[in-house]
Amino acid sequence: MTAVVRELADFRRACDEARAQGHRVGLVPTMGALHAGHLSLIDEAKERADFLAVTIFVNPLQFAEDEDLGRYPRTMNADLDGCRGRGVDLVFAPEPSGMYPKGFQTQVSLSKITKPLEGEFRPTHFDGVTTVVTKLFNLTGPSVAVFGRKDYQQWKILSRLARDLDMPIEVVGCPIIRETDGLALSSRNRYL
Ligand code: PAF
Repeated sequence: MTAVVRELADFRRACDEARAQGHRVGLVPTMGALHAGHLSLIDEAKERADFLAVTIFVNPLQFAEDEDLGRYPRTMNADLDGCRGRGVDLVFAPEPSGMYPKGFQTQVSLSKITKPLEGEFRPTHFDGVTTVVTKLFNLTGPSVAVFGRKDYQQWKILSRLARDLDMPIEVVGCPIIRETDGLALSSRNRYL
């Protein structure tokens, strides 16, 4: 059965309990609008862990003001069906006010690897990603976290983050899943 929680304390408690019961906890962080690429991450994480948490959170910190935060696809019911169908143990779908309560002011930032490539065009993006993923790592305490190599730079940044901050987490990157015409699957393909 897939449990769904929205409060940070409930999510942390469920992950703590799973670890206390001796489970190896896996984490797949997502922004929802799940597609076959996400499902492949879930399948990989299930191979590597015996308690799997998926997070669904459209993270405002990683969107610049002129980006698509407001219209980013949100398909929670379908996402939950997808997680249930894949045997996910726990879904965490917090509100922005829960993740970033009044007074929140901490940023996790990598100084070099975030600057070139996508960082050149989206100078604040990766700081938002590393800040939210650090929070998710801290809340979950996973042994393994799985990301897509579609966002190759993001995967390398998050691997570096875990190494630099001595987080005992294996950060796995999974192959890109493509449409039959070669286009990499992405939640934003809905805009096309
Ligand atoms: O790759 C994504 O969907 C997001 O950047 C992530 C890692 C879930 C952080 O919000």
